Amino acid sequence: AAFSTSSAAAAIKNVTVVGGGLMGAGIVQVAAQSGYKVTMVDVSPDSLDKGRKIISSSLARVAKKKHADDQAAQKAFVDKVFDNIATSTDAAAAAASADLVIEAIVENLATKQKLFAALDTAAPAHTIFASNTSSLPIGDIASATKRGDRFGGLHFFNPVPQMKLVEIIRTKDTSDSTFAALTDFTKALSKSPVSCKDTPGFIVNRLLVPYMLEAVRLVERGEATKEDVDLAMKLGAGYPMGPFELMDYVGLDTVKFITDGWYEGGVGLKGEKLVEPSETINELVKNKALGRKSGKGFYDYSK
Ligand code: NAI
Repeated sequence: AAFSTSSAAAAIKNVTVVGGGLMGAGIVQVAAQSGYKVTMVDVSPDSLDKGRKIISSSLARVAKKKHADDQAAQKAFVDKVFDNIATSTDAAAAAASADLVIEAIVENLATKQKLFAALDTAAPAHTIFASNTSSLPIGDIASATKRGDRFGGLHFFNPVPQMKLVEIIRTKDTSDSTFAALTDFTKALSKSPVSCKDTPGFIVNRLLVPYMLEAVRLVERGEATKEDVDLAMKLGAGYPMGPFELMDYVGLDTVKFITDGWYEGGVGLKGEKLVEPSETINELVKNKALGRKSGKGFYDYSK
């Protein structure tokens, strides 16, 4: 069928985001800010409340920037965005009226497959499904549905409202019109799409993770201190954060989870020295030094 790029995109009006955590809430916010009607789904009223709080504190910052000394205008801005947001604990019911479903739940293949299998029967035929997974193959998640042609990866970056990039992942089954619709949706959020095949880490993490591990190995060999490595990459390569600051920001548990997954079974990366798990990171994670979120990682954030 001759779906033009614009008709595919025009078809997306209602968006359901399943998972209202760090990433899901951010995606809900930017979609609602861009005029989409969005339903945020999570497992309980409590978790929906957390998602709403993430959105309102982020929107408050945006509103202050937009309307510096005008509190009424700030409130009107925030209210208008929230007018576009509904919440639900029933993913299937939300998917029944969605043109696009974006999944941002816990990073577990079986859990994601179970969710999408249920959504596949609940959602209309035209509805496009997308996963925000960082480390699982999109094709493995899509295999739980009968709509592989209407399934892709939509990989946002943290913090979603600030980060301009979205990686759009095409599996071997993703159709041209699905890819076009995901591309146009991304642009409508004022983000820049890049396209990548369904490979471990896509573009950004495939390059960043080996780089971060190499930084740890360099320090383990005693060649430089982590402070000097961070300073070197900031001033010498123009990176906004050094690799140790970045690992603390991402979370060392997340770095470990991704590394272990690839080393144990990532397509083309299994057993590769490039992604060999790091004893230093394992030790820190064991001691609950997970980075910024736990107050300590490679650096101490407690003071
Ligand atoms: P999070 O833990 O902050 O949020 C996950 C949310 O999903 C929670 O609110 C949880 O209650 C909810 N949830 C879990 N199972 C559910 C289910 N069956 N139905 C509905 N809701 C459910 O996690 P985060 O960091 O937002 O990550 C979500 C996804 O985004 C993961 O796949 C992760 O790999 C991916 N991602 C994470 C990034 C990050 O920097 N944290 C960056 C890019 C992608």
